[in-house]
This record gives sequence, C-alpha cells and structure tokens, in this order.
Amino acid sequence: MKKFAFLFALAAILVSCHTPEAQPFTVIPMPNSVEMGQGVFKVAGADIYVEEALPAEVLAVAERFADRMAVVSGRENKISRADAGQKIRVILNSNLGPEAYALQATPDVMVIEASEFPGFLYAFETLKQMLPAEVYGSSRAKADWVVPAVSIVDEPRFAYRGVHLDVARHFFSVEEVKRYIDIMTVYKLNRFHFHLTDDQGWRVEIKSYPKLTEIGAWRSGTCIQKDFESNDGIRHGGFYSQEELRDIVAYAAERNITIIPEIDLPGHMLAALASYPELGCTGGPYEVRTCWGISRDILCAGNDDVYKFLEAVLAEVMEIFPSEYIHIGGDECFGGRRDKGKPIPWDSCPKCAARMKELGIKPGPEARHLLQNYVTARVQDFLLEHGRKVIGWDEILEGDLKPGATIMSWRGIDGGVKAAAKGFDVIMSPNKYMYIDYYQSQEIDKEPFAIGGHLPVEKVYGYEPFEGMEDGSEDHILGVQCNLWTEYVATPEHLEYMLLPRMCAESEVAWCDADRKDFTRFNESLDHAFRMFDVMGYNYCLDIRCLIGLDRIPARTSEQLEDYLTNGKK
Ligand code: ACM
Ligand code: ZN
Repeated sequence: MKKFAFLFALAAILVSCHTPEAQPFTVIPMPNSVEMGQGVFKVAGADIYVEEALPAEVLAVAERFADRMAVVSGRENKISRADAGQKIRVILNSNLGPEAYALQATPDVMVIEASEFPGFLYAFETLKQMLPAEVYGSSRAKADWVVPAVSIVDEPRFAYRGVHLDVARHFFSVEEVKRYIDIMTVYKLNRFHFHLTDDQGWRVEIKSYPKLTEIGAWRSGTCIQKDFESNDGIRHGGFYSQEELRDIVAYAAERNITIIPEIDLPGHMLAALASYPELGCTGGPYEVRTCWGISRDILCAGNDDVYKFLEAVLAEVMEIFPSEYIHIGGDECFGGRRDKGKPIPWDSCPKCAARMKELGIKPGPEARHLLQNYVTARVQDFLLEHGRKVIGWDEILEGDLKPGATIMSWRGIDGGVKAAAKGFDVIMSPNKYMYIDYYQSQEIDKEPFAIGGHLPVEKVYGYEPFEGMEDGSEDHILGVQCNLWTEYVATPEHLEYMLLPRMCAESEVAWCDADRKDFTRFNESLDHAFRMFDVMGYNYCLDIRCLIGLDRIPARTSEQLEDYLTNGKK
C-alpha cells in the first residue's frame, strides 16, 4: 500500500513538472503580422468574456469554440457577457476592417479583437490552428492545450476568396457539400461557387419547371475514362431541394461563406433541353449527356420562351441564394477549343436568324458572340432589376459586353487582364494555376485518373494574381478562386484528395500579402495541416512530401506515409 502511495505521489510530481509546450507556429494562411512572445497561454479551462456590444453571431462563434474544447480537453471554457476578469477576452475594435482581427496572447491573458463577425470567426480559426491538431477531433485527447504567447494582426489581401465545386458531372450530397464548406472555413475562404447545372445534370429544384429535376437531374450512364463512345450504363444523378439548398446557404453563412450559384447559360444546357426540348433551336429530342465534353445543342437565343424560362429559373434561384452575385456561366457556348468555327444550331435556326436581324447583327465570325452578348445583357438586366450582379466566365467578354458584369478569368490570365483594362471587375481563376482537377504530380500512373494537366501544390502557391496586369488595373481584381470540375471525380474521398492541400495553397494566394508568402515555410506548415486532416478524416494528397527532402513518392494515404517514414521505401 505504502509503495502504491509512493508511486502515486511520484506520478503526481512528474505530471506537475511537465511544462506544456506549444506547437510551432504553422497557421495557414499565414497571418500578415505575427510577433512571437515568451511562454504559453493555457487555453483549456480559460473562461471567455464576450463583450456585451457584440452580436449574437459572435457569441455563437465563441460557443462553438468552447463546445469543441470541452469535447477534446474535457475542460469547460465558461462564457459570459459580464466582465469578471476572464482570461480570454473577446472585444470590439471598430478600427479593424470587417474580416480583420487581432489576437494577443501572453501567459496571463488572451485578447481577441475585431469589428465584425467575420473577423471574430477568423480569430477563432487562427486560435484553433495554433492548438494541437486534436482540437479538430470528436473525442477527448491528451495534449498540451496551450498556444504560444503571440501578437497577431491580420486581414486578407482579397475580399473574394473562392472555391468552386462542380456537382453536375458528379453529384455530391448535402453532407459532403457541408464537409467541403467546413474545410474552406478553416482556411478563411469565403465564396463557394456552386456549379449546379451542366450538360450532364441539373441539380437545383425549380418549382415552376419540375422536369428539370424529374428528367434533367438523371443521366443513363457515364463514360469510362475518355471513351466517349460508350458508357457504364449506370444511372447517375440527384438534385438538391430548395429546402436543402437553404440549409446549405445558412450553414455557409454561419461560416462567413457566401454561396454563389451558377446557372450556366446559354451553353452547357443539355440537361435543361432534355427536360424542355422546345427551348432548343431544333426541338430535339435531347438526352442528358452521358459523356464529358460539351454539347453543341444550346438554348435558342431567338425564342422568347427561353427568356421566360431563364427569368423563372433565376427568380427561384435568387429566392434561395441571397448572394449579391449570380454566376451565369457563358463559357464554351460554341464548343471547346477544337470546335472553333464549326457550325452550331444558332447558324441554321430561323428564330435565331430573325433575332439577329432584329438586332442588326450582320453574318460573320462576330455574329455568334454578339448574339451571346444579347442573351447575357437580357439576363444581366433582369438580375440588376432584382438588385443582383452577374459573374460570367471570360467568354462573355467577347463581342461587346455591357458594363457591370464581373469576369471570371479561366482560360489563362488574358481574359482577366483585358477585362480589368476595360474596367470590368475580375476574379482570377486561370486554369494553369487554379484548376485543381488537374494531376498533382507527374507520376500520373500513380494518381487517380484525371482530366489531364499538371498542377502541383507549389504551382498553385506560386500564382500572383496581379501577374500581367496593366498599371491601375489591379483595383479591379476582386480575388481568386480554385475550381474543382468533377468529370473524373466521383467520390468524396477523391474530391478531398484533389482539394487538399492545393486549396491550402490557394488560401495563401488569396489571403496573404505577396511578401508574406514563402513556400518553404508553407510546406513545413503542411505537416500540421496533414495531422489536422487525419484528425478530421479528410483525404489528401501527400505528394508534397517529395518537396521536402524525401525521395519522390507517389501520393498516398497518411497510414502509408507513416509506414514509409518508419520503414523506408519498399
Ligand atoms: C470552364 O472551365 N469551362 C469554365
Ligand atoms: Zn435558335
């Protein structure tokens, strides 16, 4: 018994002698100003004061954090609106911008300041990243729940920090979309571009046009890899009810993420034509596309019923999505690069011909662009009447685009450079740097099948959004976005693999001032990010490790990597 008491006392002494250590500072995106201090601040069990003047949504952010800490540390961070000298102090600072925050921690106290909900949200995201990765878990974990003494002042470089997801080529459930939003939140990304319609599927319930989801949401098969001549014969599809979409919008808003819905028009519309063939130039019949690539059948620009259709669809879309911007696509109406100059139904349609005549559009290579400008302008006017603005892919710039649209530059940077020089606002999403459906390494036989291209994480990281911009045009660059097209991405695991860690790199492009970027530091910080992903159960690509001194290794799971690090190359 005595011996037992002695051992117990010894253990107690050893525990009390343990000096808690903070993990190295590995926050992504790197805050714009970080000064490390001496010692650590103990987070577990520290009570939280949320200043009375702050709105309920800020209190909710603090509560979410406290709930998380309770789960992982087993200790309570009591929250109160009354100042009783609590150690974590959440305070209004009206001098900071809406997304800016300051976080100061000494061994005695932590002060979090911001002016609005987004800034407070981001302060707590930074705080979580400074803690051990287990803070993201769903069970009690043994860890030093401390952060280093530090003084951070932070604010984003760009107001628009976007991530796109194509749910038309492959459908992803509400829960999967929310997981996507969750990981965007960690990296302070604030625009979710929801690509809801395409030739291969229509994914948004429209009550006035029910066949869009009865027929258009389903295809009879999916081509296998690049064999467009056949398909697997397995029915694929799905759609989101308006109620589900409202739920996603609210979920995202709690995380400072605006959902920008895309209704791609007048091309990429085969699923809609299969549902309502009278909206096409030929009247069909049409079928939801089973192979990738781009349908040559598009909405008839000369048929007034098409505009009634678009207005009804967009009216319902606006009811669901409060976003200032609605994305109207506009890409590849006349096919892909290889189809340049080939005939399209607009060329031989009497209704389109009559509309061109009425508009004074002369036959010639410009005619189809001018007719597309007409479609865009009608939609733009309709959305403007309802207080919304248009974003379109860079093709909408061709011909003679009405002022007021925002251009999403995807075919390289040229569209963005030209648009900004002409005074249009721009979001930079050049495929060379921001298309995360491309392969992540050159060892493509070791990667999941992808559309092509090569976009390793360091290339995403290296992108400078002002590249090529004329002097004075920079003010038109609202921000950046990475795009995840899903032709070859059919499962959530694969989706996450394509997203991570490239999205982390994009977050620094979007958030950090150019002189704060440092690939070596970022690369080392990914170790912590990978531990976070492991704890949260996200899949990711590990090929990054080849950049930090290991031999080139193929992308693999974290268990495989552990095995590799322990046992060496097999
Ligand atoms: C696009 O990648 N077609 C915008
Ligand atoms: Zn037509």
